[in-house]
Amino acid sequence: MVTGGAGFIGANFVRYVIEKHPEVQVTVLDKLTYAGKRENLAGLPSERLQLVVGDIGDENLVDRLVKQTDAVVHFAAESHNDNSLQNPKPFIQTNIVGTAVLLEACRKYDVRYHHVSTDEVYGDLPLDGGKFTPDSPYRPSSPYSASKAASDMLVRAWVRSFGLRATLSNCSNNYGPYQHIEKFIPRQITNILCGIRPKLYGTGQNVRDWIYVDDHSAAVWQILTAGRIGETYLIGANGEKSNQEVLTAILETMGQPLDAYDWVRDRPGHDLRYAIDASKLQRELGWQPQYTDFQQGLRATIVWYQEHRDWWKKDKAVVEARYAQELKKG
Ligand code: NAD
Ligand code: DAU
Repeated sequence: MVTGGAGFIGANFVRYVIEKHPEVQVTVLDKLTYAGKRENLAGLPSERLQLVVGDIGDENLVDRLVKQTDAVVHFAAESHNDNSLQNPKPFIQTNIVGTAVLLEACRKYDVRYHHVSTDEVYGDLPLDGGKFTPDSPYRPSSPYSASKAASDMLVRAWVRSFGLRATLSNCSNNYGPYQHIEKFIPRQITNILCGIRPKLYGTGQNVRDWIYVDDHSAAVWQILTAGRIGETYLIGANGEKSNQEVLTAILETMGQPLDAYDWVRDRPGHDLRYAIDASKLQRELGWQPQYTDFQQGLRATIVWYQEHRDWWKKDKAVVEARYAQELKKG
């Protein structure tokens, strides 16, 4: 069972599993919030994939589904930092309470559980060095990252106190097809495609450690099938870039003048830099990222958004209106 399988990373993971592992049957549990789309699973074989539309916080539904499964991979979440600054409530409900509901069901039926989390639980790093390791202290900055940190803590407690067969992974920033256009890379690509100037927060010097989404999927599969119970694995592909560098690459690839963007007010509490040390995952489980050429991955992503206008067009006005409203609030 894959929770959040109609969202960005969840849908890419389901596609990865269906393609690479013909023996696997997948049930997706997804609430289809603004971030989840049925179309993200279009074209997959119905005899191997079932989509159940529902909330991970619905105890009866989760009990019934978990009873029938042998493993849960938990992607479902409210995932956007900016939204969590406007209204933290759904983040608490889905990311913390929803996770607790899944954990209880997995405990009851002794079902293997994998928890998909984020590097943001570790806070941020200075620009001039250091990387997150599995031993880095938890220091989340935003309501989103604090809710993910809380969910990680629940998983660890269920492992230690109840013997839950669980693993955790904390991954860096993903990019690729099906990412919601509220997020940095697809927002700027679709801005350019709509004739809107891209928007860069603050100084543009904040650094993110980019990984192509299929590399994340492969790592999660590897951890699910070969990871040690109770362990945390960090997933990253040495893809550090400042936001300004990423935006320049987008502008260049899309044939725009390199100064054709606007600086906008910074995100409150904006984390400065993320960087992942993935050596434990590489050493113990032999995982290696395959899509390490950022320019190539970015080009493929740009082409995907160019060729899938119908997928994102109807969200664009809503997303940009929300951002404009926040800026006006000052
Ligand atoms: P997303 O916002 O694109 O998708 C989230 C999915 O969860 C959507 O399909 C949504 O409908 C579903 N969902 C939300 N609330 C739900 C609920 N209460 N019940 C059932 N389904 C619900 O998110 P994403 O970027 O694909 O992230 C997926 C997971 O990966 C999250 O747990 C996130 O914290 C983690 N993660 C994301 C990144 C990244 O760069 N995007 C990096 C590391 C970890
Ligand atoms: O590190 C993993 C995390 O990466 C995940 O846990 C989150 O779910 C995911 O959303 C992502 O969080 P970020 O906050 O890093 O991603 P976002 O795409 O929102 O922003 C990336 C960077 O770009 C960040 O420094 C803020 C900046 N930014 C963002 C937007 C939307 C801009 O400069 N302009 C923008 O318009």
